[in-house]
Amino acid sequence: MSQRTLVLLKPDAVRRGLIGEIIGRIERKAGWAISALELRNLDQDTLEAHYGEHKGKPFYEPLVVFMASGPVVALVVEGERVIEGMRQLAGPTDPIAAAPGSIRGDFGSIVRENLVHASDSEESAERELKIFFPGLV
Ligand code: CMP
Repeated sequence: MSQRTLVLLKPDAVRRGLIGEIIGRIERKAGWAISALELRNLDQDTLEAHYGEHKGKPFYEPLVVFMASGPVVALVVEGERVIEGMRQLAGPTDPIAAAPGSIRGDFGSIVRENLVHASDSEESAERELKIFFPGLV
């Protein structure tokens, strides 16, 4: 089943020089392709739209500050079961709980600064893709 998903390389990944490492892992998955890619700074409106479901939670404000602390790389990745596959590649939210071999397991230790975002369902993917790539057909 071919799908598409939104992936963000968060400001920690960009600052630490991990863009190539992470994109390389995505590119090496058979049958997946990057169909859009942009380095950009996120404004407050974009962050509110993207993280709206977390508004009011204790981690929301510091999360938004962190996500605005430097540029992110936004990607559209397409391919076979890419939504589930990207979540597997990223590993669980908490990098210490993430297995070695996953992006978070290999490079992270802080829950907030967990390197990547990947949409968690088809509905989330379509909603998030509209926020980051409104021109997408
Ligand atoms: P992600 O799953 O991409 O989207 C929500 C983000 O909120 C998550 O990654 C983390 O960056 C952050 N987050 C989630 N839970 C916590 C937490 N308990 N403490 C700090 N940050 C969190």
